Amino acid sequence: MSFGNESDWQLEPHEARPIVKRAIDLGINFFDTANAYSNGRSEEITGELLRDCRDDVVLATKVYFPMGEKPNQHGLSRIHIMKAIEDSLRRLGTDHVDLYQIHRWDYETSVEETLRTLDGLVRQGKVRYIGASSMWAWQFAIALWTSDRLGLERFVSMQNHYNLAYREEEREMIPLCRDQGIALLPWSPLAKGFLSGRYKRGEMPNSKRFKSDELLAERFFRPEDFDVVERLVEVAKEKGASPAQVAISWLLHKGVTAPIVGPTKIEHVEEAVAALDVKLNGDDMKRLEEPYKPHRVLGHA
Ligand SMILES: NC(=O)c1ccc[n+]([C@@H]2O[C@H](COP(=O)([O-])OP(=O)(O)OC[C@H]3O[C@@H](n4cnc5c(N)ncnc54)[C@H](OP(=O)(O)O)[C@@H]3O)[C@@H](O)[C@H]2O)c1
Repeated sequence: MSFGNESDWQLEPHEARPIVKRAIDLGINFFDTANAYSNGRSEEITGELLRDCRDDVVLATKVYFPMGEKPNQHGLSRIHIMKAIEDSLRRLGTDHVDLYQIHRWDYETSVEETLRTLDGLVRQGKVRYIGASSMWAWQFAIALWTSDRLGLERFVSMQNHYNLAYREEEREMIPLCRDQGIALLPWSPLAKGFLSGRYKRGEMPNSKRFKSDELLAERFFRPEDFDVVERLVEVAKEKGASPAQVAISWLLHKGVTAPIVGPTKIEHVEEAVAALDVKLNGDDMKRLEEPYKPHRVLGHA
């Protein structure tokens, strides 16, 4: 989502190329995009930048959000998914997607129709595995139960909103995923940059992302969210690490599979990789988690 042309903070290929190159050199092999990001431009850029190492990476994209205004241009109906996968493959410049994710729950289509269609794409070799993204845990449970009941491909991953400043998924979705052996791929692991420590209580932010991504201010910036960041900065100082590294390390210590960081600079990728070396003990984890106050649900809609 960092690559595209929908918003001021996003990058076009000439800016994104060195970031992707550095990521690959550092051993990162999982890349996430979606058809709806910048209306397809994110997929085009991702495909272009991964062309030379396509077979060495896990390439994930998504379907659901509108790609036009007509009724068949959104959602998880058979007609839309079958058109969307062809468009994604063309933009990505590949003959298959490794992980094809449903971006949200579709209240207008039966999950059976969606699963039968996705299963067909796996049989045809256009998709290797299927995954899901933010939804209620009961919906995900129904989807898993439906695929088991019908002998269809099962979702292997859940891409949900989870970070040190947003932990509501610990109630239902994460225990369900653990029980069912589903990989966790948290999005916005740094709360859109809020957990970098660059935003200070009482100060007017001036980052490009803050100015052009209205969800950043809307989702975080409560006084109690600053309590979380201030504790994070304190622990990071003790560890000799950056707040972003400790926030990523916290997720890794919680046992997630792959946090999907959104780098906009080479240093962001380097810091994310260096987070693998940050060790947190039980007391560190407890202190980091202590200031958290429940949030309203963010990211399902
Ligand atoms: N499934 C879904 O519904 C969904 C929703 C949202 C996102 N996603 C996926 O998740 C990815 C990440 O989302 P996100 O961009 O919100 O994630 P994020 O990693 O929480 O935030 C990225 C922002 O954090 C800052 N940043 C990143 N690394 C940093 C570092 N090491 N130090 C300091 N600041 C750092 C950058 O801010 P500045 O640019 O201001 O420097 C960047 O724009 C997206 O690209 C997309 O693939 C999925």
